[in-house]
Amino acid sequence: MTDAVLTHEVKRRKTFAIISHPDAGKTTLTEKLLLYGGVIQLAGAVKAKRGRASAVSDWMALERERGISITTSVMQFPYRGLQMNLLDTPGHADFSEDTYRTLHAVDGAVMLLDSAKGVEAQTKKLFRVCRQRKIPIFTFVNKMDRPGRDPFELVGEVESVLGIGVYPITWPIFTGGTFRGVYHRLAHRVYLFDAEFAKSSQSAGAEAPPVKVSGLDDPMLERELGEEGVKRLRDEAELLEAAGDSFDSSRFATGDVSPMFFGSAINNFGLEAFLESFTDMMPAPSPRATSTGLLAADDSQFSAFVFKIQANMDRAHRDRVAFVRICSGRFDRGMKIHHVRTKRDLRLANPTQFLAQDRSIVEQAYAGDVLGVYDPGVFEIGDTLTDGGDFTFEDIPSFAPEHFSRLVMADPLKRKQLAKGIEQLAQEGTIQLYRPPDARAGDIILGAVGQLQLEVVKYRLKDEYGVEIRYEGVNCSFARWISRRDGQPIDLQALARERIGTVAVDVRDRPVMLFAGEWQLNTAVRELPDLVFAETAHGV
Ligand code: G4P
Repeated sequence: MTDAVLTHEVKRRKTFAIISHPDAGKTTLTEKLLLYGGVIQLAGAVKAKRGRASAVSDWMALERERGISITTSVMQFPYRGLQMNLLDTPGHADFSEDTYRTLHAVDGAVMLLDSAKGVEAQTKKLFRVCRQRKIPIFTFVNKMDRPGRDPFELVGEVESVLGIGVYPITWPIFTGGTFRGVYHRLAHRVYLFDAEFAKSSQSAGAEAPPVKVSGLDDPMLERELGEEGVKRLRDEAELLEAAGDSFDSSRFATGDVSPMFFGSAINNFGLEAFLESFTDMMPAPSPRATSTGLLAADDSQFSAFVFKIQANMDRAHRDRVAFVRICSGRFDRGMKIHHVRTKRDLRLANPTQFLAQDRSIVEQAYAGDVLGVYDPGVFEIGDTLTDGGDFTFEDIPSFAPEHFSRLVMADPLKRKQLAKGIEQLAQEGTIQLYRPPDARAGDIILGAVGQLQLEVVKYRLKDEYGVEIRYEGVNCSFARWISRRDGQPIDLQALARERIGTVAVDVRDRPVMLFAGEWQLNTAVRELPDLVFAETAHGV
């Protein structure tokens, strides 16, 4: 294969995630992308996911059919000559560190907002991770068919709450209080919304074609929208021109300005315009930082990293699947892979790709693609894989949990199984494990980004390791990884005697402090000036 082929293949990869608050329409939008891509023929195919309520029992029932949750972790589908890799960021119930880490494996994101609700809690959290990584973010305001917030108010909210510039590429048109469509500001096109047509085509994957206009003075607009409707559109367009800069693609590339679109996913409305810009502007895999410098995605060296591990996919075999994002080069089935952390060479067993509801064994894959590989227990999140090169990618950070519980064993004789189970689940990365620095004394505290993860751990410890546990409340609401400014090791025993917060170590023996509240964290920051308190485990 020539390099030109590799470059071509890499260029047509678009690896992204949809970030949103539950109910904004992520499942619906995903399904429409699959429909528009011709992967599925009828809406409803992805609906299985919608039955997922927040109850633990539902999560478990679903987990029994691991196939579903795995398939929805990554969706790969062709779209107009491109290879789309859509990585799922689960909803609030199963919200976990995985969700954050997935955002380290993408090259861009679509932020989906409900037009009536604007920027919601979970969107904010996910957005922060994208912002840290400086990846481009598209904004799609959904549910325009319903009464929602004023579009200027939404623009203002995104700008002030998230601190990102917004450039509306399409703009909603209203006559009276009725949504009539969108105006494409760059292409001078009008997309008219026909509620009846939309209803009849909800399960399809196409929308009515737009009308090309010469500009906002085009007489056709007045015919369609009436004098008042056109006046409003002209006034608003003028305001937008006056208020905003022209679209700056370099500020988009660094995630400083987000192109915004309006539409209705369920009604196949506004998606064509969005997809057109998305396919045009969404970057292909870009160079990634490694310990030996930047590595271009179309470099012929193969490299990848593990961003997610799912244990016990098949209980009978205790197997684990590691999700691997390819960062450079090409993967060929059967090729020898170098596992940098353990300095071992291995072959990836059953490398799997996912297409809508199907999985298939991969013969070849390129930078930007995601593989699921069976993990005999050698992989950890953040591991770098190469075709021989001795370098690593940046560590994927661990994120500070928001829910904490003290773990109590029902049967003290099962200590060994517990240690094994809890260690494996912590390595899988869905929970944080805090042990006392002196292993002989003290409690084990678990921390998770989402409350459901704690319940899931309890269930899985019993189900997969035969250990019953219960939780007790613990006076803790913050965890911070700690390090000394001078790089020296911390005397944890001495620190514990200060009695400011609880001193512990995480699953990789990195020092952590747990705090009852913000006041206690502030005290620690004030009283312990030699220490750095980090919200993520990055770089401690
Ligand atoms: P999520 O994955 O982000 O949680 O959201 P999901 O797609 O499941 O959508 C949440 C609800 O919003 C669904 O209704 C869905 O039909 C609806 N929805 C999605 N896009 C639009 C839109 O453009 N306009 C309107 N009006 N509604 C939209 P539901 O009643 O919860 O589910 P269902 O009974 O429709 O399956």
